[in-house]
Amino acid sequence: MSPAGRKKTSHMPHPELSTLPEHVAIIMDGNGRWANARGLPRTMGHRKGVEAVRETVRAAGEVGLKYLTLFAFSSENWRRPETEVTDLLGLLKAFIRRDLADLHRQNVRVRVIGDRQNLRSDILPLLLEAEETTKNNTALTLVIAFNYGSRDEIARAAISLAKDVEEGRLKADQISASLIGQRLDTAGIPDPDLIIRTSGEERLSNFLLWQAAYSEFMFVPDYWPDFSRDLFFSALKKYAERDRRFGGLSAKPIAAVGS
Ligand code: IPE
Ligand code: IPE
Ligand code: MG
Repeated sequence: MSPAGRKKTSHMPHPELSTLPEHVAIIMDGNGRWANARGLPRTMGHRKGVEAVRETVRAAGEVGLKYLTLFAFSSENWRRPETEVTDLLGLLKAFIRRDLADLHRQNVRVRVIGDRQNLRSDILPLLLEAEETTKNNTALTLVIAFNYGSRDEIARAAISLAKDVEEGRLKADQISASLIGQRLDTAGIPDPDLIIRTSGEERLSNFLLWQAAYSEFMFVPDYWPDFSRDLFFSALKKYAERDRRFGGLSAKPIAAVGS
């Protein structure tokens, strides 16, 4: 029987756990092009993309990753045709309705980043329910970036700090990088060690600009609906070979010349 339409069994062994990043963030891109390449409507790409989300979350849990952030909908994605926006919001709602119980069983904690003001009344309660239901879970933290844009997030943090100064709770010269970090939506979440973008595009598209100061980047050519456990583990293995210096000197021993 043809395996078409069935997910192939993966035999990729786990990446080395000692070199695992703590936080991986993914820009899930290429749903539309995946569909287009098959002569399908864009919505089919988004639907298949949800399956890739499930597989990636399971794989992250399997290796014991602490944080996985997924860019689900940007503050700029409202510029898309209304039908596509409705479709994407519908898929997010369906994902939370269908998968929340399962995520909870997997001990996954859900957090949502992005602007919550002016969200439609059918979506905000679902996001809050996902956070509330899973708030005491201790395995993977799944951070869903929804209505998220980094510049908007930084501007909201600036407003909150400015109000504190205005109302006398804070002095302007007490503002530090770490205080700004505490006012971002990602407060309490470590910066991403690794940011993966699928579909071959090599840009951040307003994602985690502040938090990405020392992140490693990986741009993979595959469209998001084709992302899989194997591609995820292979990215984690490549990450282990990166030499992160944070402005200092390498912690890795340098091989002697000629050795
Ligand atoms: C990612 O796929 C999904 C979202 C941005 C919500 P796209 O819809 O951007 O797909 P392409 O980039 O047009 O192929
Ligand atoms: C980034 O992808 C947003 C998400 C993945 C949710 P886009 O497809 O919106 O980014 P651009 O417009 O190609 O930069
Ligand atoms: Mg895109």
